[in-house]
Amino acid sequence: MKKIDSFSEYNRAYEHSVNDPEGFWEDVASTFSWQSKWDKVLDWEFDTPNVNWFVNGKLNITENCLDRHLADKGDKIAIIWEPNDPNEDAISITYNELHQRVCEFANVLLNNGAKKGDRICLYMPMVPELAIATLACARIGAIHSVVFAGFSAKALADRINDADCNILLTSDGLFRGTKQLCLKDIADEALQHCNTINACIVLQRTGQDVNMTNGRDLWWHDELQKVNHHCDAQIMDSEDPLFVLYTSGSTGKPKGVQHHCGGYMVYAEYSFRNVFQYEEDDVYWCTADIGWITGHSYIIYGPLLSGATTIMFEGVPTYPDAGRFWEICEKHRVNIFYTAPTAIRALQAYGTEVIEKYDLSSLKTLGSVGEPINEEAWDWYYKNIGKEKCWIVDTWWQTETGGIMISPLAHITKMKPTFATLPLPGIQPCLVDTDGNEIQGNDVEGNLCVKFPWPSMIRTTYGDHERCKQVYFSTYPGKYFTGDGCKRDQDGFYRITGRVDDVINVSGHRMGTAEVENGINEHVSVVESAVVGYPHDIKGQGIYAYVILDSSVDGSEDLKKEILHTVTTEIGPIAKPDKIQFVSGLPKTRSGKIMRRILRKVAEGDTSNLGDTSTLLDPNVVQEIINGAQ
Ligand code: PRX
Repeated sequence: MKKIDSFSEYNRAYEHSVNDPEGFWEDVASTFSWQSKWDKVLDWEFDTPNVNWFVNGKLNITENCLDRHLADKGDKIAIIWEPNDPNEDAISITYNELHQRVCEFANVLLNNGAKKGDRICLYMPMVPELAIATLACARIGAIHSVVFAGFSAKALADRINDADCNILLTSDGLFRGTKQLCLKDIADEALQHCNTINACIVLQRTGQDVNMTNGRDLWWHDELQKVNHHCDAQIMDSEDPLFVLYTSGSTGKPKGVQHHCGGYMVYAEYSFRNVFQYEEDDVYWCTADIGWITGHSYIIYGPLLSGATTIMFEGVPTYPDAGRFWEICEKHRVNIFYTAPTAIRALQAYGTEVIEKYDLSSLKTLGSVGEPINEEAWDWYYKNIGKEKCWIVDTWWQTETGGIMISPLAHITKMKPTFATLPLPGIQPCLVDTDGNEIQGNDVEGNLCVKFPWPSMIRTTYGDHERCKQVYFSTYPGKYFTGDGCKRDQDGFYRITGRVDDVINVSGHRMGTAEVENGINEHVSVVESAVVGYPHDIKGQGIYAYVILDSSVDGSEDLKKEILHTVTTEIGPIAKPDKIQFVSGLPKTRSGKIMRRILRKVAEGDTSNLGDTSTLLDPNVVQEIINGAQ
């Protein structure tokens, strides 16, 4: 695939993509290896919604990630794995080896009864086997559902049950910084509440003792003994599902965002090559976890489709010290580095001495994803890591969009601190006012929508198509609504201002306020709670919880700890509130709706202009909340 190589070429490609979308994407799609070609490039409507790309085209994404590279890149390194402990050896896997290992594990899955269309859940550490198993699912046409290994047993069980998964892939344990966690224990607890899992295949990573249930649990290494490394790729329709990935929304229950084979493949490679301006022999590193969309699209699929060398890192940025990222960049001569603002801000706090120890001269391009990057963090990243010569690509996108939507193209289009800048070719963003009217012109602000389909867009929410319609296509009929607010400046550059719905973004992780409230309310002493986001120096947003207790109990520090424990058990440590305030009531309208605007202001420490509170059911509660605020 040829990438855009100048600003004028970007403009030309963009215009082509708007004037003739089908012709534009047909050209891009033709660079892939298809088992049979499509009849029609695009068939769509946004009411139901019903979107079909490369209609009747047949393919297998793993043939595009692996097989097609073997003739000329078989000995090239596909994955470099960097362990949590810097004293353990890194592992390099060539395209030939990766192909072989994916085929072997695909045969393990087949031996255990997996078929095309089955859902397979992966709950694993960041080890090569996670990438291998993900691709093995795709090889046989099973739908992978990767669940981040920081989620609790309850959250894992909910996700397994929602998609009726029949196989669970996990490990004995995982290493993360100084911590060692027993994943298998968590999986065992989850499986007590799941009755669709026939086989649980367990990778040995830490070597710790785990319980193995007869007739259900199998060791990964034993299963590999039983297979060979030949496995034909399943023939997939372009619109067959490739994966589901759960993400939080404004209601309590996370939804399984579903992506399909053909369109996702085309856009993953197109966006990877163009945004990062990947060149043959570049070493590329995305620090995300494969449990999130960034890991799916830009650790596994985008880079491997492009025949790139992609780094997978098992650990955390601050172990054994805050220089770990930069040590890895030097060690593997990383050219393209992609991380989250929260990591940048956290490392900023450690000063620059720890950076100066390392040679970062291989870096050409730096990326940012997951939340708005504040100007200070942008400048720090540009100066101290990029040495004022690297491009920063601030990439805006979502689990639902499958790939990067708005971003500079490194060294090709302009960058501007805190701006995601311009849409990629093929992406037609628009801003709408609260009535849904499109806001024309520049120097304007509104809610961000997309008005034309793109290949990697969400197709449905697993098992509940109506929900997909309601959440994304009903607020502004005829448009996909992102849930984000956005400005367009005088140059036409886009700047994402944050969520406009009840979703908070904590360290780049999406949390639904209702989801966290449901977690808190599980504590026996809690009657009701309301959660809002507030600005947090490192995390971007922190979680502030207002909690009403049963009248028979007194609020105490111990009780706060118990509530945090409840949330950890219900969802996982990432959902733990940063602040808990016990209150006797919540500001509600007469119809019972919580006035979150007031709670947000108090959490932000700004009580100067709370607006009219006289219409509240109990106006006195506001003063009590202000007095008790932290
Ligand atoms: O609010 C936006 C924010 O993250 C949300 C998507 O979260 P998730 O589906 O978990 O995917 C994160 C990784 C793609 C968006 O609705 N967001 C993501 N990237 C940016 C961003 N906000 C501002 N600037 C970004 N570059």
